[in-house]
Amino acid sequence: MINKTAIVTGSSSGFGYVTVIELAKAGFHVVATMRDLTKSAQLEQELNSHNLLEQVDIEYVDVTSQESINKLVEKCSKYNSVDLLLNNAGFAVGGFAEEVTIDEYRKQFETNVFGLMAMTQAILPIMRKQRSGRIINMSSVSGLIGFPSISAYVSSKFAVEGYSESLRIECKPFGIDIVLIEPGSYATNVWKEGRSNSTGIGNEDSPYATHLAKIEERLAKEEKNLGNPLDVAKLVVSVANKHNPKLRYKIGKGIKMNVFMKHLLPWNIWEKIILRLLYK
Ligand SMILES: NC(=O)c1ccc[n+]([C@@H]2O[C@H](COP(=O)([O-])OP(=O)(O)OC[C@H]3O[C@@H](n4cnc5c(N)ncnc54)[C@H](OP(=O)(O)O)[C@@H]3O)[C@@H](O)[C@H]2O)c1
Repeated sequence: MINKTAIVTGSSSGFGYVTVIELAKAGFHVVATMRDLTKSAQLEQELNSHNLLEQVDIEYVDVTSQESINKLVEKCSKYNSVDLLLNNAGFAVGGFAEEVTIDEYRKQFETNVFGLMAMTQAILPIMRKQRSGRIINMSSVSGLIGFPSISAYVSSKFAVEGYSESLRIECKPFGIDIVLIEPGSYATNVWKEGRSNSTGIGNEDSPYATHLAKIEERLAKEEKNLGNPLDVAKLVVSVANKHNPKLRYKIGKGIKMNVFMKHLLPWNIWEKIILRLLYK
């Protein structure tokens, strides 16, 4: 049997790392890409312990580097097909909108939005010629609900949502499915690093300092409820194997209810609830 080939971006940690392993376990040949190959040792070791090393090629891709993406595409000619692209690479810039610099917003979009678009543009011609393929874009509940103190991240994920809706309809006639995964909060590096990704965070003289302290207090209380990234990896595998996947898959504690309530309630009621929850 010829294995299907899956490409995963951002495989050095978090969702990407576990999804590479789960896809390999499910029989995919996986091209695990990362922007820092010095981080590959742990993944290699774990794959080896499951006898999966031969099923995985680890390649360098920084999604903000078109050159690295082009090199990956050249290497793809050795595979019979490219069946799945998981656009997973991403990070979060924290900080209140007034204090996040435009440069920080740009960097956020370079990876989460333009990087995802560049990978998609590079792989689509292969899938279009095959007249089959699936692209899964790792969005977030932050692509559906705006939260304070992460507007850069939220706006990047809203952009991914709109892009994917358009793309879904453009690609259907070619037999290519576009899917969004919309996780809630999971225990990965993304939030820890998010705090250090903005110059505005940690400034005690900021007019938003008390708001931030309250949000962080709430997040600390909810840390024990963070989900296990393995659940998201298993969802990716199940979506990869579905006959006719939907556009959106939400995952995480309370996420479906929160999104439902946001759409159901008039905005001013929703806003009052959020303000009371966060800043009371
Ligand atoms: N964890 C959550 O609660 C959550 C919820 C919803 C959505 N998400 C999304 O899930 C995706 C994966 O994040 P995660 O939670 O697994 O966090 P993570 O552990 O920090 O993983 C992020 C991955 O993206 C990589 N990356 C960042 N910038 C890159 C670039 N320019 N080129 C290539 N790779 C890059 C990182 O590489 P380095 O190791 O080199 O930094 C890392 O491998 C992100 O798109 C994130 O927005 C996460």
